[in-house]
Amino acid sequence: LNYRVPQTRRDIFQTLIKGLQRLEYRGYDSAGVAVDGSGKDHAASISLYKKTGKVKALDEEIYKNNSIDFEAELDTHFGIAHTRWATHGEPSPLNSHPHRSDKNNEFVVIHNGIITNYKELKKYLVSKGYDFESDTDTEVIPKLIKYLYDNRENDYVSFSTLVERVIQQLEGAFALVFKSIHFPGEAVATRRGSPLLIGVRSQYELSTEQIPVQYNCSKSSSRHPYFSSTYTSPQTCSAPQDVCEHSNTTRILHVIYLEDDDIAVVVEGKLYVHRIKRTAGEDPVRVIQTLQMELQQIMKGNFKAFMQKEIFEQPESVVNTMRGRICFDSNTVILGGLSDHLKEIKRCRRLIVIGCGTSYHAGVATRQILEELTELPVMVELASDFLDRITPVFRDDVCFFISQSGETADTLMALRYCKQRGALTVGVTNTVGSSICRETDCGVHINAGPEVGVASTKAYTSQFVSLIMFGLMMSEDRLSMQQRRLEIINGLKKLPELIKEVLALDDQIKSIADELHHQRSLLVMGRGYNYATCLEGALKIKEITYMHSEGILAGELKHGPLALIDKHMPVIMVIMRDACYKKCHNALEQVTARQGRPIILCCQDDPEISKMAYKTIELPHTVDCLQGIISVIPLQLISFHLAVLRGYDVDFPRNLAKSVTVE
Ligand code: G6P
Repeated sequence: LNYRVPQTRRDIFQTLIKGLQRLEYRGYDSAGVAVDGSGKDHAASISLYKKTGKVKALDEEIYKNNSIDFEAELDTHFGIAHTRWATHGEPSPLNSHPHRSDKNNEFVVIHNGIITNYKELKKYLVSKGYDFESDTDTEVIPKLIKYLYDNRENDYVSFSTLVERVIQQLEGAFALVFKSIHFPGEAVATRRGSPLLIGVRSQYELSTEQIPVQYNCSKSSSRHPYFSSTYTSPQTCSAPQDVCEHSNTTRILHVIYLEDDDIAVVVEGKLYVHRIKRTAGEDPVRVIQTLQMELQQIMKGNFKAFMQKEIFEQPESVVNTMRGRICFDSNTVILGGLSDHLKEIKRCRRLIVIGCGTSYHAGVATRQILEELTELPVMVELASDFLDRITPVFRDDVCFFISQSGETADTLMALRYCKQRGALTVGVTNTVGSSICRETDCGVHINAGPEVGVASTKAYTSQFVSLIMFGLMMSEDRLSMQQRRLEIINGLKKLPELIKEVLALDDQIKSIADELHHQRSLLVMGRGYNYATCLEGALKIKEITYMHSEGILAGELKHGPLALIDKHMPVIMVIMRDACYKKCHNALEQVTARQGRPIILCCQDDPEISKMAYKTIELPHTVDCLQGIISVIPLQLISFHLAVLRGYDVDFPRNLAKSVTVE
């Protein structure tokens, strides 16, 4: 950030810390800031403060520091801050960002992403006498810029020229912001692969809505730009309050999305954007876009955690996913973002659905109904494995990329891989403007509203509904499917009410969690349409309760997992009234014959199942292909209650991050 009006050092720290706190759910094992040093000539030195743990710990550390002059007023200032999710090297102050060139902090850098050729660079720099203090890949960057500065041919070299030279040597993915004592009051930011956006001060101060690339673009002297490596909407964008317009109910933010290899420079409060090499046909401008967010969506309200709030939002979030897209009178479904490509999609020879974590499970959950409604072969793939296998992809394939954040590196890499092979690419994301949105040929926005809890809940049910709507859109002109379509559309209409019925079981579900919370393991078993429910339920349990949990395909029970069953092993079984009911019943017999004591998620009024269960959670019945939306909710709630009872931070599970922007 760069102020042109005097700010106290306290204000600057507060701005940086608040920004980090907004982004904290993206990574929270350590944090750090770099600001101009104290004293009269403050820009001649840079102070670094770093701390392991959450941002709050860093904040406390800074305010304990007696040597900081908090009341000093500064006219121009550029500060950088970072919250880390460790990839290279354990969480520790030395490994946290900002990283520095040397003990004098001549150059400091923050980085989101991964530098894949860091070992070669490090070897070279060590041979030139540069000492490294951390185990990170990032540290080569400040060392490299200092090396280039120390070995410059002319006395005058600009900060941005140095950064250009640095990134020409880097391989991997990065969003970078640099600060240096040699260029006081200046900042340079750039990206390749990882997201980077600039928040600019409110519209009325902007003299233009476009930033021409390669030109001096700032006619206004008070843009106060903020850089952030995130594409999430205003609630999580780290831009502080004063860059956002506020009303009582809304938060508005003006942003510029940088493209790969754009270099953004702030000098004397003015913002310039240029490219290293400009190729013919490239867009010559970066447009200032407006993001808007209802404030109520980004507050926890009376809930203990964002995750709990997001679970309870599902009656509304699924409606928002369907809003304006399903006409219940004419039984038609229109996904505007796909309309132009529908003909092409209908001509394809197979669908490939790709995602990670929960988003992958949404693909597993809807595979069967997509196969039925589209009559196409459907492959569902984990992005990392899909890439590892160098899976054959053809021009007449249609590839779906499912991602809440739209930023997951594995999914993004798979997208680029499929694009290169000429397939049509479709994004299914919850984040407008995210990399996956921007790089796919077309897409569906799931409209679930911001999801902050690291464990994904409402995004899953909205992804689920979006994929079902796609199947319905594809089958609109198939006469033989009209009955089935009608049944599903009616099911979708009733979905919000049924979700409310499940949420009303929260107390009963909590009492089951009370019983289970001392256990070490929890198996979740089912098949058919509810296999994905088991995978997703087990993932929730793992993510936030740290209990061992496995989602088991009931058809595989006899081929191995049965060996785990005895009277001590907690088992949850999902047995719904669908085509797999009888087979699930067999699995239940096998479990009880080994003295297993299953807790069963079943449909209301199923006495036969109830009598074999240790406990039941009775759920409202819906169409087979939608049942997974209903049955996953008790598992979301169980994992939430287990995590609370075990004393864990539900929204910030250890070692995880909401969006994983490294491969
Ligand atoms: C991370 C998160 C998971 C999420 C996965 C995919 O691992 O912790 O909750 O399911 O990424 O994220 P995406 O944003 O692509 O849906």
